[in-house]
Amino acid sequence: MKLGVVILAAGQGTRMRSQLPKVLHRLAGKPLLGHVLDAAKDIGAEQVCVVYGHGGERVRDAMAGYDCSWVEQTPQLGTGHAVIQAMPAMQQMDRVMVLYGDVPLITVGTLQGLVDASRETVLGLLTTRLPDPSGYGRIVRNDDGRVRRIVEQKDATELELEIAEINTGFLVADRTRLADWLDRIDDANSQREYYLTDVIGLAAGDGVEIATAQPGDVEEVCGINNRVQLAELERWFQCQQAHRLMLAGTTMADPSRFDLRGRLEVGPDAVIDVNVIIEGQVTLGAGVEIGPNCFLRDCTIGEGTQVFANSVIEEARVGCGAKIGPFARLRPEAELADGAHIGNFVEIKKAVIGQGSKVNHLTYIGNAEIGSGVNVGAGTITCNYDGVNKHTTTIGDDAFIGSNSSLVAPVTIGSGATIGAGSTIGRDTPPDKLTLTRAKQVTFDSWQRPRKIDKIR
Ligand code: UD1
Ligand code: CA
Repeated sequence: MKLGVVILAAGQGTRMRSQLPKVLHRLAGKPLLGHVLDAAKDIGAEQVCVVYGHGGERVRDAMAGYDCSWVEQTPQLGTGHAVIQAMPAMQQMDRVMVLYGDVPLITVGTLQGLVDASRETVLGLLTTRLPDPSGYGRIVRNDDGRVRRIVEQKDATELELEIAEINTGFLVADRTRLADWLDRIDDANSQREYYLTDVIGLAAGDGVEIATAQPGDVEEVCGINNRVQLAELERWFQCQQAHRLMLAGTTMADPSRFDLRGRLEVGPDAVIDVNVIIEGQVTLGAGVEIGPNCFLRDCTIGEGTQVFANSVIEEARVGCGAKIGPFARLRPEAELADGAHIGNFVEIKKAVIGQGSKVNHLTYIGNAEIGSGVNVGAGTITCNYDGVNKHTTTIGDDAFIGSNSSLVAPVTIGSGATIGAGSTIGRDTPPDKLTLTRAKQVTFDSWQRPRKIDKIR
């Protein structure tokens, strides 16, 4: 059975009060529409068609990485009219499922439940019960409990408004039957729109048994109309992610102060303190500790490594048993071997720090290869940039770089070499020797500190 998915995303989204089309606003770092396109892929859709309107070109550009077709809906004459636009793209499909670009948290589990519930029939609807159903279409059932039709809030009678079971909007239907019902809908209603929901009444009139299923969580079917709802769904989603991590063996100081915008793989017994933000693809080994207020993007951190407060790690690889921070910054292509120590106010970019090497204070290491057992003193700078090109600094094993040294690349420090504090090293230095550049220290015996001159009246 070939399943096609139609995603409705033509609405204006005026209540976002934004220049950005609504479906490009981000939840957990991903555009709302990206969440829905991922859900379509995960449920196994063979064709996906997005119905777009306002800001369409921008939306298409932003979603260029997804395999889907696009159809513009102008003017926008309602949800039924929107689905009609996408039906030509569904011609090879057996069944068509309708999703919504501004309802991002629908899960595959729920969609699979809907597909399963509709297996024996040609139309299935996702419904739920809400304590306050106002605004939603109501599910009208017969005395025998069969779905008869959906009535929109604005068209409902007093009695119908009391119905607590609402239409989430999600449905799946046989493609040819759906096309036929869509042919027969009209705009004879209070909003003069072509309602997708009128399909339900037509199907019931044709004697079709309409299957229903319910979402696992009500948040899965919550649409986003303004930034308050966006923030609420974001926090709900983040708490879900935090709960999943905790149940899988990660200690979290406070699940309500955790943000994962991407994928996180964690070994057992990792500990994550408050206000940690994780983006992209991050892997933490067993027993890794992440201190408060850290930001990690696209990185791998080996077993037992400790990352102390306020550190930033992006596109870096860290070995096992390392110590980073507090206030450290690892930039792209930083690579720390096992047991390396990177201390406060140290920036590492495109550099390898060898096993057990220490760069503990106030230092910039860029475009460098540092061996094992090296000690880099406070305030050391690799001068990697001549204003035009970047050059490499190489430091051999067990070298000692005295504090406040400038290593002017390209330059190689021999293994076991010692560089005296305050040196500016522009030529290669031999192994196992002391090298320094320093003006001679002088003391003036006759010198006296100036005294305050009497004020002139
Ligand atoms: C719709 C349902 C209602 C359901 C509710 C759930 C209809 C007629 N009513 O009502 O039963 O309870 O959703 O949230 O379907 N859209 C288009 N083109 C259009 C109109 C809408 O793409 O011409 C898209 C919107 O971008 C939005 C979605 O369809 O994502 C729903 O449209 P909206 O106008 O919000 O429908 P509701 O009135 O909320
Ligand atoms: Ca709506």
